[in-house]
Amino acid sequence: MTRRGSSASSAGPHPATWRYLKRFLGARVGATSALVAGSLASGLCMSAVLAILAEIAAALVSRHPTAALHLGPVNVTATISMWTVVGLGTMGLQLLLQVGLAYLPARVMADLQADLRRQLFDAFTTASAAAQSADGEGQFQELATNQVVQVTQGTIQSTAVIINGLMLAVLVAAAFAVGPLTTVLVIVAGIAVFLVLRPVSRLGTRHGRALSEAQFRYAEGVHQAVSLSEEAKVFGVMGEHRRSLGALSDGASRRLLASQFTGRIAASSFQNVVMILVLAGLGILQAAKVADLTSFGVVVLLLVRGSTYAQQMYGSYHWLRQLVPYLDRVDEARRRYAMGTGTRGTARLASIPSLDFERVCFSYTAEVPVLRDVSFRIDPGQATGIVGPTGAGKSTLVQLLLGLRQAGSGRYLVDGRPHTEYSAESWTQAFSYLPQEPRLMRGSVADNIRFFREVDDAAVERAARLAHVHDDIVAWPDGYDTMIGQRADAVSGGQRQRIGLARALVAGPLVLILDEPTSALDNRSELLIQQSLSELRGQMTLVLVAHRLSTLAICDQIIVLQGGAVEAAGSIGEVTQASEYFQQAMAIATATTTTTAPAR
Ligand SMILES: Nc1ncnc2c1ncn2[C@@H]1O[C@H](COP(=O)(O)OP(=O)(O)OP(=O)(O)O)[C@@H](O)[C@H]1O
Ligand SMILES: [Mg+2]
Repeated sequence: MTRRGSSASSAGPHPATWRYLKRFLGARVGATSALVAGSLASGLCMSAVLAILAEIAAALVSRHPTAALHLGPVNVTATISMWTVVGLGTMGLQLLLQVGLAYLPARVMADLQADLRRQLFDAFTTASAAAQSADGEGQFQELATNQVVQVTQGTIQSTAVIINGLMLAVLVAAAFAVGPLTTVLVIVAGIAVFLVLRPVSRLGTRHGRALSEAQFRYAEGVHQAVSLSEEAKVFGVMGEHRRSLGALSDGASRRLLASQFTGRIAASSFQNVVMILVLAGLGILQAAKVADLTSFGVVVLLLVRGSTYAQQMYGSYHWLRQLVPYLDRVDEARRRYAMGTGTRGTARLASIPSLDFERVCFSYTAEVPVLRDVSFRIDPGQATGIVGPTGAGKSTLVQLLLGLRQAGSGRYLVDGRPHTEYSAESWTQAFSYLPQEPRLMRGSVADNIRFFREVDDAAVERAARLAHVHDDIVAWPDGYDTMIGQRADAVSGGQRQRIGLARALVAGPLVLILDEPTSALDNRSELLIQQSLSELRGQMTLVLVAHRLSTLAICDQIIVLQGGAVEAAGSIGEVTQASEYFQQAMAIATATTTTTAPAR
């Protein structure tokens, strides 16, 4: 999180605030020019109407049939009814301008929100697995929803700074044309108040940063609370569960209070102090007979109206400073996602490839090596089982095989070439994956199997048959059109796993990697998946992390990982000889299998 510019001491806008203005309005030159032109025109209309009002009032008081308008070099005399018509016409024009000035910021804000969300999600999806998994639970959701809304609020505030600032400038210029001395005095007073209130604005940035942070923590808490609600109920800890989320919510609400309070107090105190100074200054000038009564009235009207614009401008400026931390956070996330995305080559993978690991090392953090000098070869079409105790590095190895993470040292060769030489498109067509718990998305079963790829219904059905889930699907009333979702109750764990397998198979991969695909399944689903795997054997390169001998039986070779290193590799017979861990694990697995009921 950058704190750049937070200690800037110039009287101009905070540099980060300026960045905000430049970024969003500079990128929309057309809208910004229209905004500037509209604000200036609106300021002129407002000045003219106020001057006309003051002159008509003075003429009525002194019972003159005509009124003269003095605005610097402009000097016009006309009847009161004529001025009334001009005033009404000007107000009509002002109303039209206001419509444009309301539409433009709304347009810019809506466009920006859509743009920012698209950019963020693009950055997130192209980010490395390391960058993606560095986010806490629910962090990206919070970023793309609430934090983006705050950032886009900033656009409204920055356009408000421009509109009100320009209208104020025109009113002050008009006041200057009528009574220069009075106006200069008031401007000096305004700048003095702005400077006096600067610490309040700085406080606003600080509160904004704390609020943004607290909202992140809350979003993380909500995510966790929802995913743990079932366990919390079962273990009877709903109270504690509620309290821990409540504490996070209270933290966010305290920050919100502080930020709203300073925002409002800053805006209203600014106008009040300026008004006091304006009235006091004008009173003194009037007592000293510095200005004539009519021009004095015009100046008062212009400056009182101007102080409203000044207040709105200052209020928006203050909000903008509070919103800058959100912008910083969104920018920081985009930078983080863009880091380490790696480069890919242009080579294509046409046939089932061989996979070679040559002394591959990998660690998540500098201190703890997770894979150490891992070497093995998988021939085209071979089925390879990976076994090892928990924490041995099996899932990490899977992520490296899938190209989601890069080795710290050593080489990963696919068909004899470094894996990064293949194009991203060729890579994703060739490699496929079945995680331990595939996630379903809201949509039909067919959509879930298709998963955004362009494959026809026949391919979807073929994949479902291969995954032995077709019979289950056609037994549902809506068949392949059955709607399922992330928390679909209609789909059992075993069916979800087989839909996941169909998803992995639908685009015809050359390499299929499965990370403990059957460890949480009922016997029937496990058998069906094993059946699929033995049918797939030889048609593609298979790599499966598994614990059970029944699943490993189809493998041509087994790699035993212990503490991140290869302890043994070879056929089941060879690793049984070489690895004590494997012997024990298989003995336990066999004992468990023989004591459980037969599958069907
Ligand atoms: N994202 C991560 N960041 C930091 N460390 C991690 C991360 N993922 C895994 N680790 C660590 O790396 C080691 C290997 O983890 P990995 O998940 O690869 O083991 P595994 O063999 O798949 O275990 P299991 O059988 O329990 O699934 C563990 O010590 C784990 O704590
Ligand atoms: Mg694992």
